Amino acid sequence: MSPTPAAPARDRLRIAIQKKGRLADPARALLTACGLSWRESRDKLFCFGESLPVDLLLVRDDDIPGLIADGVCDLGIVGFNELDEQAKARRQIGLPDAYRPLRELGFGECRLMLGIPEEWEWTGVEMLQGKRIATSYPAILTAWLAERGIAADVVELSGSVEIAPRLGTADLIADLVSSGATLRANQLKPVEVLMESTAVLAGPVRELNDSRANLMAMLLRRLDGINATREQKLLMFNAAEDRLPAITALLPASADVVRLPGGADSLRLQAMCGTGLSWQQLEEIERAGASGLMVLAVEKSLA
Ligand code: PRP
Ligand code: ZN
Repeated sequence: MSPTPAAPARDRLRIAIQKKGRLADPARALLTACGLSWRESRDKLFCFGESLPVDLLLVRDDDIPGLIADGVCDLGIVGFNELDEQAKARRQIGLPDAYRPLRELGFGECRLMLGIPEEWEWTGVEMLQGKRIATSYPAILTAWLAERGIAADVVELSGSVEIAPRLGTADLIADLVSSGATLRANQLKPVEVLMESTAVLAGPVRELNDSRANLMAMLLRRLDGINATREQKLLMFNAAEDRLPAITALLPASADVVRLPGGADSLRLQAMCGTGLSWQQLEEIERAGASGLMVLAVEKSLA
């Protein structure tokens, strides 16, 4: 961990993403959807940007906050849990904030939770008093315990946290839970949520002041376009004028119905819907008098 050095001037933007793990594939897919492409092979650590001067660094997720802090990378896609843990750890030793979440990305949902042996009966946080808790998130756990006035031992482990109770190195754990399978496989049960987390795009606290700033702004704008249209669907259909009230009543509240030119016997219509439409909804709309229904995903939009 180091103080924030002045970022060296560069004309290519560098983004760190997880090389292997839960966030790796969705992170790449998102950046690809932003129009980025690279000359690379999947197992390389560095991918050279082809469509834009934006390069990728494939690393361990735990290294991403530090790479941004050191100015080695300009952006990173990382779990908010990891970013917050390292931000808290920096503050605890008096270092200034070096990175911040810029956007939530809508994938990588998980929770940092307390897991206790299955045979324990959870009666509340008071029972943590004097216990040993194994975790890879010591800063978050320490702050959480302090807020509740609990004196417990935080046992920092970098991996295999879930077996600590069986090995006798801790009484319980605080770890990420996604499906819950890891806890169950280790005869532990989740009892308390310390933090909800999703993947975020993280960037430096200090603004870039060279050509990378424009690249970053462009990327953020494209990401916002993807976020805004993630759930949007365009419904196209034909219907007679007198069927329209019944059909409109079946559309999502957000739908904005527009009449298109043409169509002799029936109107040609389109409706932008803020949410997806299920098969069942489409069939009901059809029964209400619509025909030729078609649902189109919105791929790109610039606000
Ligand atoms: C987390 C956590 C558990 C697993 C839980 O690891 O440490 O091992 O996920 O998932 P489950 O509830 O679906 O079983 P993560 O994928 O974040 O990898 P890392 O901690 O090694 O970076
Ligand atoms: Zn990790």
